[in-house]
This record gives sequence, structure tokens and C-alpha cells, in this order.
Amino acid sequence: MTNSAVYRHPRYYAIGYRWNTEAECRFIEACLKAYGPSPATRLLDLGCGSGRHMTRLAKQGYHVTGVDLSPEMVAYALEEARKAPLDVSVSVDDIRHLKVQGSYDAAFCFMDTFRFLLTNEEIIAHLRTVAHLLAPGGLYLIDFWVPNQWEKIGNEVHQWEQAEGETIVRVFYLQHPNTIDPITQTFEDELVFQVVEGDQTQEIRGGPTPTRLIMPQEFRALVDAAGVFELLATHGDFDLTRPFDGTSLSWRMISVLRTR
Ligand SMILES: C[S@@+](CC[C@H](N)C(=O)[O-])C[C@H]1O[C@@H](n2cnc3c(N)ncnc32)[C@H](O)[C@@H]1O
Repeated sequence: MTNSAVYRHPRYYAIGYRWNTEAECRFIEACLKAYGPSPATRLLDLGCGSGRHMTRLAKQGYHVTGVDLSPEMVAYALEEARKAPLDVSVSVDDIRHLKVQGSYDAAFCFMDTFRFLLTNEEIIAHLRTVAHLLAPGGLYLIDFWVPNQWEKIGNEVHQWEQAEGETIVRVFYLQHPNTIDPITQTFEDELVFQVVEGDQTQEIRGGPTPTRLIMPQEFRALVDAAGVFELLATHGDFDLTRPFDGTSLSWRMISVLRTR
């Protein structure tokens, strides 16, 4: 399996994952203002999922293009944009072999999608492809999980709950420590949704999904090896005032790259 089965349920994903969308979009806008080309209007969302960032940013006037491996996610994002109505472009695509065309002021790849690039070669090739899609001085914002303690490598569990109307979505993010391969630095993680609708509860198991562990210093070296971006900053939260450092309680590392 290369993609979690929960992504076949975009409405539940959209409910479960919307809690931080506003802060994440404000962070994108703050990065554009602080580091980006001006004016910056054309954005590319890599692994756009249910389109939660695209919809919010398109409402602000940005021209947003999204791609995702899951046809169900793409169909949902398009339908949400049509209902608004918002002018966005969304297509099925694979971040390992992007087919999307165009020129963008910034691209972003949020909520761990980047860790579906499993090898150094895939990461370097992806960075070079994205750099070609960006205008001079264009930004690439990447957000993924990193362990903040050694014993948490491939061994974290996170859970939260969101509700919309009668629907409650409980999200469980699990890492399976018995699948860690220290040579390839991969392990399997899994998303499980518990969905309560009225008096019905169903559990949707995503199934084990191979993901890559990318440590901070290694990421820096991979960016250097790709030779197309400079790493401007890393943040410990979606907040330009919070650097990624030992004081961060966050389990996320958010990197700001700019084309050379
Ligand atoms: C955790 S979700 C993140 C979605 C969105 N970026 C967000 O922040 O809500 C991961 C998304 O990556 C997509 N995905 C997984 N592998 C992919 C690949 N190789 N290429 C493109 N999208 C992929 C999944 O279908 C899913 O929508």
C-alpha cells in the first residue's frame, strides 16, 4: 500500500484536519511577505488533500493549483471550490513524478506529505522538479514531523477530535516501531478515523503506510545536495517568531526554502 485508505474519505479528513488551517495559511502569507517575490499570487499545493489550504487562500485572492495522489481527495477539493465558487485548479498527480505545469511564486507541502518521498534520490529529484516550477526567488515551504527525542523515533502516537454538526471525527496517528528499518530510515505509520454520526460509530483504518524519517541535519544536507534552493529558516510552529530549536515543544519542523 502506498497511500492511506483514510484518504478515500475526504469529508472526514476535512473535518478531522481543519483545526489549524487558519494559522497555517497565515504562516504561508507571512512567509511570502517576509521572504517571497512581490507580488506573489500563484501558489502550488503539493499533496493538497481535501483542499483546506487551497480554499482559504483562494478566498484571499490567490490563484491556487493543487495536486494529490488520491482521486477522492481531488474530487472533493474541486467540489468544495465549485460550491464556493472559487477558481482553483486541482489534479491527480504524484509528488515523486510531478506532471503539473506552470510557474508559481510559492509551493507548499504540508502535514507530512513530504515524508512519502522515501529515498534520498526521490527527495533530491523532487526538490529539483519543484524548483523548476517556481519563478525566480520563489519559495518552497515544507512541513513534516521530526522526533524531538531519540526514543520517539518511529514511536509516536497522536490523537485529537473535531466535530462538524452531528459528525465527530477522532483522528489517531500511529507509528509502528516494529517496522523501523534503520538502513533505509523508513517505517510504517497509520491513520485511523473513528467517526461518530448520530448513534452510529465506524472505524476507518488507513492501513500501514511506508514513510521516511528525515532528520533535521539530513534535510539540510539533502537541500544542499539538490543545489537548487537555499534554506532560509526552519520553524518549530506555523509562526515566524518561533524558530526550530531545543525550546520548541512542537513535533513539527517547517522549512522555508527559496530558489537560488
Ligand atoms: C496527511 S495528508 C495532508 C494533506 C494536506 N497537505 C493537508 O495539510 O491537509 C497527505 C496527503 O498526501 C497525499 N499523498 C500521499 N502520497 C502522495 C504522493 N506520492 N503524491 C501526491 N500526494 C500524495 C494523500 O493522498 C493525502 O491527501
